[in-house]
Amino acid sequence: MKIIHISAECYPVAKVGGLADVVGALPKYQNALGMESSVVMPFYDNKFTKEHTFKSIYKAQVKLGKETHEFNVLKLKKNTLEFDVFFIDIKSLLFKNYVYSFDDTDRFLAFQIATLDWMLTLKGKPNIFHCHDHHTGLIPFMLQESFKYKNLNKIPVITTIHNAQYQGWFTYDKLHLIPEFDIENTGLLDWGGSINPLAAAIKCAWRVTTVSPSYMEELKLEANGLQDLLKHESAKCVGILNGIDVDVWNPETDHYVVENFSKKNLQIGKKKNKNWLCETFNLDKTKPLFAFIGRLVGEKGSDLLPEVFSTILKEKECSILLLGSGSKDVENELKELKEAYKGNYDAFIGYDEKLSHIIYSGADFLLMPSRVEPCGLNQMYSLRYGTIPIVRSIGGLKDTVIDIDTKNGFGICHNEVTVVEIEHAIKRAVTLYSDQDKFKKIRKYIMKIDHSWDASALEYIKLYKSIN
Ligand code: ADP
Ligand code: GLC
Repeated sequence: MKIIHISAECYPVAKVGGLADVVGALPKYQNALGMESSVVMPFYDNKFTKEHTFKSIYKAQVKLGKETHEFNVLKLKKNTLEFDVFFIDIKSLLFKNYVYSFDDTDRFLAFQIATLDWMLTLKGKPNIFHCHDHHTGLIPFMLQESFKYKNLNKIPVITTIHNAQYQGWFTYDKLHLIPEFDIENTGLLDWGGSINPLAAAIKCAWRVTTVSPSYMEELKLEANGLQDLLKHESAKCVGILNGIDVDVWNPETDHYVVENFSKKNLQIGKKKNKNWLCETFNLDKTKPLFAFIGRLVGEKGSDLLPEVFSTILKEKECSILLLGSGSKDVENELKELKEAYKGNYDAFIGYDEKLSHIIYSGADFLLMPSRVEPCGLNQMYSLRYGTIPIVRSIGGLKDTVIDIDTKNGFGICHNEVTVVEIEHAIKRAVTLYSDQDKFKKIRKYIMKIDHSWDASALEYIKLYKSIN
């Protein structure tokens, strides 16, 4: 079965968040199960494209309204990934040093149209189009409605919602950019009076998935305006829990970390990573080390962290290290705390893949006080690296972390995203840390939990087969 994933991100080519990790792993696991799974993504001006060489396999022009843009389909000259990646190279629109910005509508529309134009020319057509998030949300609509893609409209198309907060809305003055269709069906594009690519995908895709079962249920109650649509389409909707790439995220072989370790020698291995972090960021290594890694946005609850940290740090019972970027206000508040809590706190404002791996390895606890978490990968990475997650029970966090006070529990869970509840969760963690026998036992246990893609990759394949 030939599967084409269409996405704005894919690790290690271009990563903003978890979408990249998913699209960089799922095809590999699907190929291991005998599929022919590949990725189509934009060609960006970034480190990966600078460091690799590419060959052109197709050349044409893409029309965006009255404008015409040259485009190439590129492939890596030497592919070291375990799946093929095809790059849509539209120099005038996509070749930027960012993935997302103010001009997403035109850029991703051109990307989607060029992708389908190229698909029309392929001899061996795919058996499945698997679209990810709203940047590819118009593909299901165009396949179904645009006259020019009539020859592709029997190919089943799936949309996976990684995050329903972002929907790609744009106004009707750009309607003419979408390849011609019967104007009577414009309603399929509409939600609340504007063109809504995610809503169009939910209406037109053959199946809609989200990245955890709980998130699917939550979306039917609250989906940034799309809840009634999801309820209405629920027969074709299913939640499939994300997995992780256990080769990339393997504490035994991870080349980013200071010291590799396995379940057998985790105490010493984690200690060396913790010591490195504490020495590098001037933190008290005798105290439990709490970390946060992620985008500093409302969904992650990061706006509450400055207040939580300043209260908790007064008691000097722990050390805290944060890695993230996002809201400038939150960044500034987090930076301001540095002086007052020198020796117990530091924040690295920015994006650093290597540092994130060392933090998963060296921290004792990972904080995820998310307001919304469709799946969350950080908690699964932290489990694999023996770091106990402290999570707000929502979405994928609810599906992957069981509280220590419950049977077979191994994490710390709270129900609300408030300063008081997050502080309480941290205090429970400090208490757990003081019981070193229990703490060590849990660390060892969580490293054995299997969150590899094996099971979920199979679930996706079953889903593809059910519509083929
Ligand atoms: P989301 O996609 O909503 O940001 P996920 O938990 O699914 O959340 O995935 C986040 C991914 O991005 C993880 O691989 C995490 O390690 C990584 N990440 C987030 N922020 C940073 C950062 N500042 N530096 C390095 N990696 C980061
Ligand atoms: C989104 C979600 C996150 C999820 C990721 C990968 O960015 O916010 O929860 O893990 O996609 O599916």
